Amino acid sequence: MSNSPSRRTFLKSAGFATSALGLAGASLAQEKGQPPKDASGKAIAGFEKTQTDPNASKSWQPFSDRKIRVGIAGYGLCAFGAHFGFQNHPNVEVVAVTDLISERRAGLAKACGCEKTYPSCEEMIKDDSIEAVFIATDAPSHARLAVAALEHGKHVASAVPAVHGSLEDADRLFETVQKTGRKYMMFETSYFHADLHAWHQEYQAGLHGKLVYSEGEYFHYFGAPLGGYNPKTKQVDTNGWRKGLPPQYYPTHSNAYYIGVTGGSFTEVSCMGNPSAVPHLQAKNNDYKNPFGSEIALFRTSEGGMSRMAVCWDMPSAHGEQGRIYGQKNGTGKVEVSRPPLPPGVGAGGHGGSHGYLMSEFVDAVLRDRKPRVDVAQALNMTVAGIVAHQSALKDGELLKIPQYKL
Ligand SMILES: NC(=O)c1ccc[n+]([C@@H]2O[C@H](COP(=O)([O-])OP(=O)(O)OC[C@H]3O[C@@H](n4cnc5c(N)ncnc54)[C@H](O)[C@@H]3O)[C@@H](O)[C@H]2O)c1
Repeated sequence: MSNSPSRRTFLKSAGFATSALGLAGASLAQEKGQPPKDASGKAIAGFEKTQTDPNASKSWQPFSDRKIRVGIAGYGLCAFGAHFGFQNHPNVEVVAVTDLISERRAGLAKACGCEKTYPSCEEMIKDDSIEAVFIATDAPSHARLAVAALEHGKHVASAVPAVHGSLEDADRLFETVQKTGRKYMMFETSYFHADLHAWHQEYQAGLHGKLVYSEGEYFHYFGAPLGGYNPKTKQVDTNGWRKGLPPQYYPTHSNAYYIGVTGGSFTEVSCMGNPSAVPHLQAKNNDYKNPFGSEIALFRTSEGGMSRMAVCWDMPSAHGEQGRIYGQKNGTGKVEVSRPPLPPGVGAGGHGGSHGYLMSEFVDAVLRDRKPRVDVAQALNMTVAGIVAHQSALKDGELLKIPQYKL
């Protein structure tokens, strides 16, 4: 494991806590440029302003005059539609935005400096002038909207997770990306954490050998049901998609600490769940019939090694998205580990300073017609492994095979 003092300092200062799941009360804070807040009025972890390295754009080389025409969907509690800086990229024009809720739609239009709005993502993707969409809607809608957008010829960037608990949706998404030949990238924020990015560079240079063991965790305490978009009522309420969410349905922040480092996958899993003391995380109190507040998965990796990946909602003392890797070699040697340059005007953004890098990577992949860093295979290998882990937890840790996605 590499754990140099500079990385430790970075982890501390970046407040690696995070957050992926936003909370009630966040609604219009985003309009004032504030981070979303939880029900107690505290800023949601992960959305703290991250200092962008003042030299981040110094070596950025413009290589195209083309502006990709982008449409953005979703300005919910986390205001994610505007958070990745599409509106600031010199090779992007945000031409349309959408949210089902009109005041959010207006907020997103204002935040992106864009006049055109559509009442829904479904309507927006019919606009033939749009080349690419960023889907930042509620998790249950990601797969359906991504498939529809791909079928309308759009490149797709999607917030995590790629699919929501459905292996069928995963296969459908994979086939649609292959069939349409469009780019698909999942915006998994851990990929551009400084440590994970550095380990990926070192791994590729052979400095770690195969990974013997890796571990990652996403700890976020949800002691009370949280507000969020509710696909059933089409309202924002405390019975939204986050209520009682099986922890391993949200596995990408932790699983990235193997898959994002190596590009490999998990082949089988045994996962334990902890019957929760938190009421909304008890099976009788949520639509998922999920009895677990914490799920700890032990995976076999495609290299033959092991990974322990934890997602926990009911441990008040724990928070953060982080991980560690241990290879056959000790990781020493010289290799460039800093993150790629950012286009001028694009900030690193939240979640460990990852937002700007993810957006820039997606735009670069479209412009250069190359595979994006978090392609559909990696997105699904991360997401589907968690879905199978939850199935294993429901069977008291039975060892289960995991479907594999390879481009
Ligand atoms: N670190 C991370 O990667 C991270 C952090 C926070 C949130 N997220 C992800 O970002 C996404 C958004 O999170 P949130 O908290 O803002 O969600 P949310 O549930 O609060 O809001 C979702 C929004 O999407 C809109 N929407 C739903 N269907 C739509 C459609 N068909 N057309 C247009 N708009 C539609 C809703 O009106 C709502 O405003 C989630 O998928 C979440 O998992 C990821």
